[in-house]
Amino acid sequence: MKFFIFTIVGIVHLVSLGFGRAIQKNNIPQRNFQEIKEEVASYKDVAKKIINLAVYGQSQNRSYERLALLVDTVGPRLSGSKNLEKAIQIMYRNLQENGLDNVHLEPVKIPHWERGEESAMMLAPRMHKLALASLGSSVGTRAAGITAEVLVVTSFEELQKRAPEARGKIVVYNQPYVNYPMTVQYRVRGAVEAAKVGALASLIRSVASFSIYSPHTGIQEYQDGVPKIPTACITVEDAEMMSRLASRGVRIVIQLKMDAKTYCDTESFNTVAEITGSKFPEQVVLVSGHLDSWDVGQGAMDDGGGAFISWEALSLIKDLGLHPKRTLRLVLWTAEEQGGIGASQYYQLHKVNISNYSLVMESDSGTFLPTGLQFTGSEKARAIMEEVMSLLQPLNITQVFSGGEGADINFWIQDGVPGASLQDDLYKYFAFHHSQGDTMTVMDPKQMNVAAAVWAVVSYVVADLEEMLPRS
Ligand SMILES: *[C@@H]1O[C@H](CO)[C@@H](O)[C@H](O)[C@H]1NC(C)=O
Ligand SMILES: *[C@@H]1O[C@H](CO)[C@@H](O)[C@H](O)[C@H]1NC(C)=O
Ligand SMILES: *[C@@H]1O[C@H](CO)[C@@H](O)[C@H](O)[C@H]1NC(C)=O
Ligand SMILES: *[C@@H]1O[C@H](CO)[C@@H](O)[C@H](O)[C@H]1NC(C)=O
Ligand SMILES: [Zn+2]
Repeated sequence: MKFFIFTIVGIVHLVSLGFGRAIQKNNIPQRNFQEIKEEVASYKDVAKKIINLAVYGQSQNRSYERLALLVDTVGPRLSGSKNLEKAIQIMYRNLQENGLDNVHLEPVKIPHWERGEESAMMLAPRMHKLALASLGSSVGTRAAGITAEVLVVTSFEELQKRAPEARGKIVVYNQPYVNYPMTVQYRVRGAVEAAKVGALASLIRSVASFSIYSPHTGIQEYQDGVPKIPTACITVEDAEMMSRLASRGVRIVIQLKMDAKTYCDTESFNTVAEITGSKFPEQVVLVSGHLDSWDVGQGAMDDGGGAFISWEALSLIKDLGLHPKRTLRLVLWTAEEQGGIGASQYYQLHKVNISNYSLVMESDSGTFLPTGLQFTGSEKARAIMEEVMSLLQPLNITQVFSGGEGADINFWIQDGVPGASLQDDLYKYFAFHHSQGDTMTVMDPKQMNVAAAVWAVVSYVVADLEEMLPRS
């Protein structure tokens, strides 16, 4: 009942759109840009209603509160864990109770890795306990651990040059943080490159924009034919300290103990819910975030925020009684952190319908105050997205940046489907990413309200336009 007034206005808006406009079929050439521009502009009032409801109205703080309840109840949601399966079951019920359409679970086999006990002690030149976190998919050490001398390098190039020194040692990478995509190469490939030159283990400086002595974990990858050596991340502080010691010619010895182990794959699910399209139900705008997280921290930011503003987008649209022409599909991915496992399976299963995906969206880089939308697609599609974003003028968030992406939607984007993601403060995001610091304390209800409003306006308007977004 609370949303009754909004519902009436929403219906009036849709009815008024239906009149005086010839219905466009998929195979009819696109209308000229001026017509599309006018069509998008006609959503000005409905965009304002979404913004008012999300930011100032009855629904304010809802995505934050829903997320806090899940995070406080379940905690972290590592791939293969009981926690993740519990979270999926809770979300399945939540989405049904929200009255969304076609709520269902799509089965996926996912990796099950556990870190177990882990420790690293610097034995020389002095005793110092290092904070560390094993990297996802790493093997463990023997029970006695590995005790070895350290070789500190700052790049793969330096490791190549000093290859003869690496044999039998623990390689410590002290690579500077440039940006995530570049620097994360050390986390992903560090063990393989160290093993190739005969190292016994590798320790990687956490891939973080800022540190208060926090290890930041994440997935790493072994390579066929290269020995699997134990690998973990250490803090920026300890990596820099060992780098200074080494540059003074000081001999460093570390004892490393890791119980990390990979178990058999487990059964999991992508969680799906929809607002079924009123006119083109086969056509899809996909909004998404991933439900799994790392086991350190609580997965509140990565990617609880993205998952819950995506759910919120559908909730807001439903609250307002809006019925987009195309299907708005929410997907909460499983096992993103292990390499987009759930999303890969979804893509394999659903790509037969790729021609009917208008836009794929994922929020997985934070739900802080958005500075705009990142978009990948044709020039024509970008021009339309710029018009859509101008509807967010009341929030002064109208910019369309390049580089729309997300580990879970890239499968579609690479095949030509337009893709969108939220741009916000990445410095803040990578300060907490994959660390014990990823908790609800990082999240801000007001910022989530704004992020959800942007997400809802974009997804609703694109799902409701007469035509799909044009591809290249
Ligand atoms: C939403 O959260 C903000 C920040 O915590 C708070 O100031 C505001 O009162 C909350 N709004 C409602 C309606 O609870
Ligand atoms: C593909 O779309 C059709 C409707 O156009 C639907 O019936 C079918 O279930 C979809 N297939 C998959 C695998 O999503
Ligand atoms: C795409 O959607 C259109 C109309 O909505 C439908 O006629 C067509 O069969 C769909 N294509 C696929 C591949 O499902
Ligand atoms: C609106 O946003 C732009 C940048 O996106 C900023 O430069 C400008 O100061 C903002 N205006 C207001 C009134 O906040
Ligand atoms: Zn993530």
